Parts: sequence; structure tokens; C-alpha cells
Amino acid sequence: MSFPVLNYEPVLLANIHKENSHTLAVYEAAGGYRALRKAMKEMKPDDVLATVRAAGLRGRGGAGFPTALKWSFLPKDHPGPIYLCVNADESEPGTIVNRVQMEEDPHQIVEGIILSAYATKSTTAYFYIRYEYPLSCQRMQAAIDEAYAAGFLGKNILGSGYSLDLFIHRGAGAYVCGEETGLIESLEGKRAWPRIKPPFPAVEGLFRKPTVVNNVETMACVVHIIDRGAEWFRSIGVPPNPQDPRDVGSLGPKLFGISGHVNKPGCYEAPLGITARQAIDELAGGVWKGRKAKAVIPGGLSTGLMSYDELDTPLDFAGPLKVGCLGLGTACLIVMDETYSMVDFLYNSCRFYAHESCGQCTPCREGTHWSMMIMERIKAGKGRLIDLEYLAEIGNTIGIIPGTTICGLADGAAWPIKTCIRKFRGELEDYIKRTNPTGYAVEVAVPALTGTNGKPH
Ligand SMILES: Cc1cc2nc3c(=O)[nH]c(=O)nc-3n(C[C@H](O)[C@H](O)[C@H](O)COP(=O)(O)O)c2cc1C
Ligand code: SF4
Repeated sequence: MSFPVLNYEPVLLANIHKENSHTLAVYEAAGGYRALRKAMKEMKPDDVLATVRAAGLRGRGGAGFPTALKWSFLPKDHPGPIYLCVNADESEPGTIVNRVQMEEDPHQIVEGIILSAYATKSTTAYFYIRYEYPLSCQRMQAAIDEAYAAGFLGKNILGSGYSLDLFIHRGAGAYVCGEETGLIESLEGKRAWPRIKPPFPAVEGLFRKPTVVNNVETMACVVHIIDRGAEWFRSIGVPPNPQDPRDVGSLGPKLFGISGHVNKPGCYEAPLGITARQAIDELAGGVWKGRKAKAVIPGGLSTGLMSYDELDTPLDFAGPLKVGCLGLGTACLIVMDETYSMVDFLYNSCRFYAHESCGQCTPCREGTHWSMMIMERIKAGKGRLIDLEYLAEIGNTIGIIPGTTICGLADGAAWPIKTCIRKFRGELEDYIKRTNPTGYAVEVAVPALTGTNGKPH
């Protein structure tokens, strides 16, 4: 399926080029808070939830989990409190879209949070924002202050009887703080160690109370679903496959971050389902310096690599999976041109995950560390072909998907390794042979473990 990408009229980014787009006056002049007024006047919380369900909104934070389904996991008639935590950690490498929203259109997010809190019957919401985003933080706080002053936040919002407080919490700058239970631990003032699930946050989350964690862009989508209706949202993107009863489709507008070796890196809006090639050529002005793309990360580093031959893959929730990537992730592409070394790619990737592993799970702590050491050795010209087997073994055995770790950080570490070896093995082998011509084929026997007296155990 192809889309006339350039003719698409943005919704999520409609305001960002206006002067003072971050202020309440500009937001309201463009119809801002219309959806909130409508909901407070005409809709019950369950009506908002039903509309979001009918729209088929899937979370934009990485996993694509259906938003209304997540909300419906909250216990019914809970005496409260129920918390809504908004994930603005945006820590996935290459991911830059939430920052644009926060800096340029913070009221859109605030409005989405109020609607979502109303639907989930939350009376307290937390906005967890990464420390490295000072301007985003400042603009969000200013928008929250304006919203309180205008009666959109606080007690008895617009005379509806519904009250909500919204607080900003600044993270301390770790990738794992974006994992929803790591985020919750961090919000509680602790080290961001992800929790074993179940219990899931909907049952036992922040301060052990029912909690929903949603991404910033998910919140923004809710505004337009309530404003324009579920059918409008469903008219954009890729509808469910009628042959597959489990497919819920990839509906609605999506922000695509595009960085790396392109002419116009940036944040763009397009329907879900455009191809990676369209995103690069039509949105980001093509690969720079007239070169060809060698490899593309479809949705943040954790999703792994697509090769040049796979660029016609649709960027919907199912597309990247079909070419062996982890998923659509954050839909933030990183483009590497034909001159870029895959050894450098894998070296940088392994260093990142080794640095960011929180260390709770042995497979993640050790696997990320060993893969970094192996890549350091290969890059230094001391690699052996068998190192690729060791790397592949690590990639295949760490993560939630093989079932050996608490959180998905380890899966994120694994996919760049697996896809790089599967799709660029020749280049990795050539590098090893070229840089270590005498040693590349040597298989080093693993020595037996010895005790302190030098004798085998
Ligand atoms: C290591 C790791 C880092 C993550 N970082 C983020 C992040 O920065 N922002 C985000 O929204 N989700 C992040 N997620 C996904 C969250 O756990 C969670 O699924 C998401 O916030 C849910 O929001 P959604 O349902 O609106 O997509 C991360 C997950 C993992 C495993
Ligand atoms: S998978 Fe890694 S980051 Fe996640 S909890 Fe385990 S050790 Fe920590």
C-alpha cells in the first residue's frame, strides 16, 4: 500500500511552525481544548474510553499495545487513587519526536493527558521527563501552569466535577527509566530497576496502586480522536487484515523521526504504513551526498537493522517484524549510508547497552558486557570468526522473548546484534580477516576452570 506522503495534512504537528506555538493563546486559537470541553460537557469517562477503543489507537511508545485495552485492565470501581504516568523519557537511541511535541506544542499533550486521566478515572497524573530535555521541561511546566490558570487542570475542571492534578518529575538520565516499571520505581524515588511482572502496573503500579503508563504521542492522539471521532482516525493508516482475526491494524497518524545520513533529518508526520524508502526519500530528502543507504534502523536502535533491499517494508506495527526486526518501535529511523562501517555500528550499539543495563538479570548484565568486549576486540583488529558465533549466541539468549530477563532492554541489545550478523555477516567477516589475517581462523580452546592451586576443579 502506498500513500501520497507529501500531500498528507499533519494533525499532530499542525501547530509547530506557528510563532509562540507553545502558548495557550496560540493553541486555543487553533481549536485547542475543544476536545476537552466536549468531553467534560457531553461524555462520561467510559465514553472516552469507548471512543479510543473504536479508533483502534495503539501505544506510540514502542510496543504498539492497544491503548483502550490497557486502560480496561484497571480494576473496576477501585476506590483509588489510580495514577496516570506519562512516559516522556524518550531514551531510545535515535528517537526525537516527543521532544518536538513538548517544545513546540505542549498544550496538545496536556489536553491529551487530561482526557486520558478522565477516561481512566485518575485524579493524579505524573509527567516523567528525561533530564536531558531542559527546554521541554520548561515548556511543559509553563503549559501546565497556564492550564491550571484557565481551569483545565485542578479542581472541578470546567465545572464538570472532575478534578486532576498533573505533576512533572524529571528523570536522572538512564535508558532503563523509560521501561514502564523502571519509570515507576524512579518516580517512587528509587533506582530505576524494572519490576518482575506480573503484577502489571494496571493492578499494582505506582505506590502499589493501579497505574497506566502511556507515551507522550499516545496522549496527543487521544485529543484528535475525541475531537474528530474514531472513524476519522480509522481512515488513516493500515486497516486490520481481514484474514487475520488477531490483527488490529496500524491506524492513525504517526510521527517519524529520521536521523543519520539523510539530507533533511527531523521529525515528520505521516500515516502509519508508509515505507521506509518513502520516509527517507519523500520526507527526509533522500540519502545525503548522493549515496545509497546501506542499512536503516526502523524504530530506534533496539529494533535492529533493515538492509537496502528491505526498504520497501511498510512502517506499520507488523512491517519491520516481517524482515526480522524487533518491531516498529518508536518509528524513528536511523539511516546509514553505503560508506558506513557495520563494525562501528555494532561496536557503538554494544557499548550503549552494556552501559545501560541495570544489572539485575545475569543474562543481560553479562551478555551486554561480553558483547561489548568482543566488539572491542574485533574493532581493535584482534577478532576471530568464532567471535561472531559467540555474539550470535548472546543475541539469541538474552531478553524477554527467549524468557531470560525481567525487561525488554536485553531484547533491545540483542536485535542489533542478531540482525547485523544475519544481514551483514560478509562485511563483519571481511573486516576480521583483513585486520587479523593470521589469527582470524584460530579457534582458541576454552581453558578448564582452575582452582587457586592451579589444578582443575
Ligand atoms: C528499556 C526500555 C526503554 C523504554 N523507553 C521508553 C521511552 O523512553 N518512552 C516510552 O514511551 N516508552 C518506552 N519504553 C516502553 C514502555 O515500557 C511502555 O511500554 C510505554 O511507555 C507504554 O506507552 P504506550 O502504551 O503509550 O506505548 C521502553 C521500554 C524499554 C524496555
Ligand atoms: S533486562 Fe537488563 S535492564 Fe532489564 S531488568 Fe534485566 S538487567 Fe535490568
